[in-house]
Amino acid sequence: MNNAVTKGQFITVEGTEGVGKSTNMAFIEEWLIKSGKELIVTREPGGTELGEKLRAVLLDAKEQSMCDDTELLLMFAARAQHLQEVILPALNAGKWVLCDRFTDSTYAYQGGGRGIKMSSIAELEQWVQGDLRPDMTFVLDLPIDIGLERAGKRSAPDRFELEKHDFFNKVRDTFLARAAVQPDRYSVIDASPSISDVQQSIQVVLEKMV
Ligand code: TMP
Repeated sequence: MNNAVTKGQFITVEGTEGVGKSTNMAFIEEWLIKSGKELIVTREPGGTELGEKLRAVLLDAKEQSMCDDTELLLMFAARAQHLQEVILPALNAGKWVLCDRFTDSTYAYQGGGRGIKMSSIAELEQWVQGDLRPDMTFVLDLPIDIGLERAGKRSAPDRFELEKHDFFNKVRDTFLARAAVQPDRYSVIDASPSISDVQQSIQVVLEKMV
């Protein structure tokens, strides 16, 4: 693993289904560009040609036989490619990286949701990422009922969206628990108020970063 010293800031956006990740990713992107930052915007799983192929497999609602460890390893396979091909080169060139989901999603979905041991995820994290962690992770937080209702109005559910409330409650609890123990690296944003209020809260955090 490449432990190169990084210069740009690495921001990730996390949350359960229907919390408004896309809208707020677009807001953060626009805000950082207006602040004069050179920025790349990417996502996980995905972000590379190979990673997007792995994403298609991971999200395919027909892949019902996929076992939990396969799911976990494919997430990290896509991440390894993404880091080497996109994220590390950008950070090392001094660019900012804004990523829609990252390893906190693995802890939340594969750890909290599927019940895989957190220590196994931590081992893979260290292997694939070395010491690289996001500089700031926004956790957009919303009660599961409200989020699923919003998300349900969209297209056909993917393999994760087919999961039940109980699964998503565990995912949400894991995001919140991780944020609680490392408050400097996370900003938990209440996603239930109006979009402008949510974006005001995000902006307060961004202003401290630039
Ligand atoms: P989304 O980012 O478009 O919401 O979809 C990606 C899905 O993949 C989402 O349901 C969360 C899931 N996921 C994991 O389960 N583990 C991971 O490590 C990542 C990055 C995503």
